[in-house]
Amino acid sequence: METRVFPLLSSFLSIIFLATSQASDLHIPHQIHLLRPQSGAHGHDIPGLSCLSWRLSVETHNLVGWKTVPQQCENYVGHYMLGKQYRDDSKAVVNEALLYAQSLKVAGDGKEIWVFDIDETTLSNLPYFAKHGFGTEPYNATTFNEWVMEGKGLALPETLKLYQKVLSLGIKIVFLTGRTESQRSVTATNLKKVGFHTWEKLILRGPSYTGKPAVAYKSNERKIFEKNGYRIIGNIGDQWSDILGTNTGNRTFKLPDPLYYVGKQCRKYVGHYMLGQQYRDDSKAVINEALLYAQSLKLIGDGKEIWVFDIDKTTLSNLPYFAKHGFGTKPYNATIINGWVMERKAAALPESLKLYKKLLPLKIKVVFLTGRAEEQRIVTTNNLKKFGFHTWEKLILK
Ligand SMILES: *[C@@H]1O[C@H](CO)[C@@H](O)[C@H](O)[C@H]1NC(C)=O
Ligand SMILES: *[C@@H]1O[C@H](CO)[C@@H](O)[C@H](O)[C@H]1NC(C)=O
Ligand SMILES: *[C@@H]1O[C@H](CO)[C@@H](O)[C@H](O)[C@H]1NC(C)=O
Repeated sequence: METRVFPLLSSFLSIIFLATSQASDLHIPHQIHLLRPQSGAHGHDIPGLSCLSWRLSVETHNLVGWKTVPQQCENYVGHYMLGKQYRDDSKAVVNEALLYAQSLKVAGDGKEIWVFDIDETTLSNLPYFAKHGFGTEPYNATTFNEWVMEGKGLALPETLKLYQKVLSLGIKIVFLTGRTESQRSVTATNLKKVGFHTWEKLILRGPSYTGKPAVAYKSNERKIFEKNGYRIIGNIGDQWSDILGTNTGNRTFKLPDPLYYVGKQCRKYVGHYMLGQQYRDDSKAVINEALLYAQSLKLIGDGKEIWVFDIDKTTLSNLPYFAKHGFGTKPYNATIINGWVMERKAAALPESLKLYKKLLPLKIKVVFLTGRAEEQRIVTTNNLKKFGFHTWEKLILK
């Protein structure tokens, strides 16, 4: 028996050893992902735990048009950027780019180019973001430009590796950046200082692109290259706006960046969403659950059971206002929005009206609790009644 068991046991152990040593070689952390990461005991928030999902949606471009990193993710993003994971994720991207580059049969006619974005692709602004809340503070053009003008951007080491490889293959380098023409000299100096010493062209955003989305600017500049007989072999950036659009090149590579989101092209997206079927469908999905819940209740019917409704964008829609004012892309202007409220033209949100009408026969009292001000009581009352919300237990204004 001994002679039979022992080899088995030893091969079993060697398999375990192999498995564990492979796992530690690859530095795979054994993370436990909670089923309900946003709530702890008694439903209390556990700050930070959903930040991994947040970052995943950012990197996969499911989350678009976001303005800042959620406050509760500051530590998470800070640890990610300063720790090993950011480097590992960048390495995984660059390794693929290197494999691709090596596989190319380069013509070497000087017309093959590889497009590199600059900020968070070639140069890192991490010292700036570490001082400014790792993306949790709103973008401040003044302080960010001051930082750029210091010329202290760091080389992103994995990208530097790719840059050197691409150069050695005889492919030309093009830097295509959202930085402005006025930052040309500081950018060139900064690039050279950290090892990016040569390029075919450094393209900065000229005045003709002011106010244009990044995707349009970068697409157009790449198109000009192709018109001039260049062939874009590769294209690497940290923003989706670097690699979407037209003339994107034979292959694109997306580096991680959970710090900020470039692109003003969401106005159209939000507009289509709000005016189209999807907003209605999404609202319906919410209300259907609420209806099911309401139907399932065993109510006492003592007149003390209430359902709280918010008003703006819950009960009444301000869509005509927002359609006129950039679908949320313009800063909030209290004067204009109060003027709109006074017109009492806010229509009922049809799904919410359905819920409202369901609750009344169930003898659940409706309470409206709104951020609108007390001086808007009459106009709000009129507006609610005009669109079918004719009765309530209480209307609470600020
Ligand atoms: C940007 O930062 C500067 C300097 O701290 C400050 O004076 C300014 O108000 C900020 N701008 C915005 C839009 O927050
Ligand atoms: C790049 O794509 C074009 C168009 O699909 C193709 O003709 C060309 O061979 C590709 N070049 C490389 C280097 O893969
Ligand atoms: C809000 O809009 C009004 C009217 O267009 C304008 O006069 C005012 O300057 C705006 N306020 C802000 C804070 O932008």
